[in-house]
Amino acid sequence: MMSTNVKKWAMAGILSLSVFSLVACGSNQGSENKPAKTQDQALTVVTNAEFPPFESQEGGKIVGFDVDLINAVAKAENLQVKVQHTPWDAMFDAIDHDKANVAIAAITVNDERKQKYDFSDSYFEAKQFILVPKDSTVAKLDDLKGKKIGVQTATTGEKVLQDRFGKTYEGIKGFDDIPAAIDDLTTKRLDAVVVDKAVVLEYVKKIGSQKFKIVDDSSIQPEYYGILVKKGNSELLSKINDGLKKIKQDGTYDQISKKYFADQAK
Ligand code: ARG
Repeated sequence: MMSTNVKKWAMAGILSLSVFSLVACGSNQGSENKPAKTQDQALTVVTNAEFPPFESQEGGKIVGFDVDLINAVAKAENLQVKVQHTPWDAMFDAIDHDKANVAIAAITVNDERKQKYDFSDSYFEAKQFILVPKDSTVAKLDDLKGKKIGVQTATTGEKVLQDRFGKTYEGIKGFDDIPAAIDDLTTKRLDAVVVDKAVVLEYVKKIGSQKFKIVDDSSIQPEYYGILVKKGNSELLSKINDGLKKIKQDGTYDQISKKYFADQAK
C-alpha cells in the first residue's frame, strides 16, 4: 500500500503536469496567430558578401562589420547564429520564403522596403558617394549627366541616380555586385560608380588615392542601415533591438566600428 505522503506527492505531480500542459497548450494556441518564425532560437542570416568593409568573403569565410555586429547581437541575446552568402535579390527571397530569418547587408531603411519588411533600430549612418578616376572633371552629382555610371542593381545608389536623371536614363549601368562595377571603372568602361560612403572609402584605401577621387555631393541625403526581418516577426526583432542596445552600451559596437573604420579617410 502507498503511504499517504507518497500519494500526496503523486497527486501533486499529476496536478503540476496538467497545469504545465494547460500552460503549454495556451501558449501553443497563442502562437498560431503569430508569424511562423517567432519561436526561433537561432539567427539564420543571409548577406550579400560583396560589399567590403561590411561583408566580403575571405578564403571561404564571410567577414566584415555586419558579420561581427550580428554575431555580437546574437551573443548578447544567447542566440545561435549562422551567416550565409547570397546574391542581393536572393537575399530578400530567402526572407520571403523563410529560408532565413535575418538579413544584414548594409541595407538602407527606406519607405519602399518598410512596406514589405521590418527593420531593427538603425545601426549605421551612410550616404551615397561618387567614385571617379583621378583626372575626372566630375565635381557634383549633376555632372554625371551624359556619363556612364555603375551601381549595384536595386540598391539606393541606383535610386539616387534614377531620382536625379530619370528611371530610364541609359547611362545607369546596373551590376550584380560592386566589385564588378569597380573593375569596369578601373578599365574606364565606366565614368563613375555610385555606392555607399564607407565602401568607396574602403576601395580608395585598397586601390589607392592616386587612381581615384571621391565626390561627396551635399544634395544627396543621408541613409541609415537596419537589420531586416520578415514583416510581423516582432519577437525576433525585439531581441535584435535589445541585443543592439546592449552592445552599444557595453562598448562592443564601438570596438567593432574601430576595427573596420578607424583607418578610413573620413
Ligand atoms: N545601402 C545600399 C542599399 O541598401 C546598398 C547595400 C548593398 N549591400 C550589399 N551587401 N551588397 O541599397
